[in-house]
Amino acid sequence: MTRIPHEPSGEPNPLRSLTLDQLRRRTSMKWRTYPEDVLPVWVAEMDVPLAEPVVRAVTDALALGDTGYPAGTAYAEALAAFAAERWDWDGLAVERTAIVPDVMLGVVEMLRLVTGPGDPVVVNPPVYPPFFQFVAHMDRTVAEAPLGADGRLDLGTLEETFRRAVAGGRRAAYLLCSPHNPTGTVHTADELTAVAALAGRYGVRVVADEIHAPLVTAGARFVPYLGVPGGENGLSLMSASKGWNLAGLKAALAVAGPGAAADLARLPEEVGHGPSHVGVLAHTAALREGGPWLDALLAGLEDNRRLLADLLAEHLPAVVCRPGEATYLVWLDCRALGLGDDPAQTFLRRGRVAVSSGLPFGTGGAGHVRLNLATSPEILQEAVRRMAAAVG
Ligand SMILES: Cc1ncc(COP(=O)(O)O)c(C=O)c1O
Repeated sequence: MTRIPHEPSGEPNPLRSLTLDQLRRRTSMKWRTYPEDVLPVWVAEMDVPLAEPVVRAVTDALALGDTGYPAGTAYAEALAAFAAERWDWDGLAVERTAIVPDVMLGVVEMLRLVTGPGDPVVVNPPVYPPFFQFVAHMDRTVAEAPLGADGRLDLGTLEETFRRAVAGGRRAAYLLCSPHNPTGTVHTADELTAVAALAGRYGVRVVADEIHAPLVTAGARFVPYLGVPGGENGLSLMSASKGWNLAGLKAALAVAGPGAAADLARLPEEVGHGPSHVGVLAHTAALREGGPWLDALLAGLEDNRRLLADLLAEHLPAVVCRPGEATYLVWLDCRALGLGDDPAQTFLRRGRVAVSSGLPFGTGGAGHVRLNLATSPEILQEAVRRMAAAVG
């Protein structure tokens, strides 16, 4: 049965549930990296209580002592059903999946399957900084194919980068971020089909990080890379971790298209020992039963996107904000403020508000910051007030 995506769910907006005092009791990275007087709107954690089905799955497991090693394919089955319902995609075959500890470790393992030491991995800066760090750490080289000025894939640049990457007979991979972090860009079916054609032409293997796929606004449409014509040779990483705020409950899925099944079959068995069994249970419950909660979240994020645009127009009109259609992250062009390459430093020092510096996002990151919208309207308002005070 196909459900209308994001129909009103009757769930309360989870972004309005927790007070700042409650959030400050958290001990995760978002809340413990900076001193108490700093308002954190940076790392990709959400200021939400967990969806009830997730809490139930985890507490039931704890009550039962069901805290052993993961087994079975329930996570993949739940993701396949979610993909069919939400994205109209029925090409996710459970037998072409593998559980991995988390998305980034999954990315590393997929890149290991299709490239060798020293081989290039193409990325589209500005992009999620660990793409650079993890690739460098695994002894591959990063090749940048920057997004266009419109924040979208630049197919000409991509082609040129692919051409250079495979010159000399090297094996190359393309680490696609779909939807894109930090811009929130949702790649269209046409763009992804063109990517697949280029990848096919140059023999570049595509590894798609689709962690933000559940977080697409009602007006846009997420297109799974493996589902586009020519995408069959691709590998994808998917997870409930961003959509339901489960980063601390480690698990993710690697998914292969039909043409990459043999590659995924070479994944060493021990990689499957990494995910947490309780994490797998939590992710499975989120995908199976967390739809109404997700819809309420998406509606709340849409409200926050509008609120942020209004707040910036009023208090920081020089900041250019082009909210994307996915993720809860917003990429802000602060160059007109005259704060140099790293405006996040000024916001932190003078405004006591922590946003992510644009610099580690690679080419195009200077003069930019990334702000996390997944918070209450009150905290969002206070964050912009502090940013404005820092430059006032
Ligand atoms: C694009 C992208 N990939 C991966 C991750 C991290 O996922 P995981 O914690 O499953 O490694 C994030 C976290 O924000 C992300 O934005």
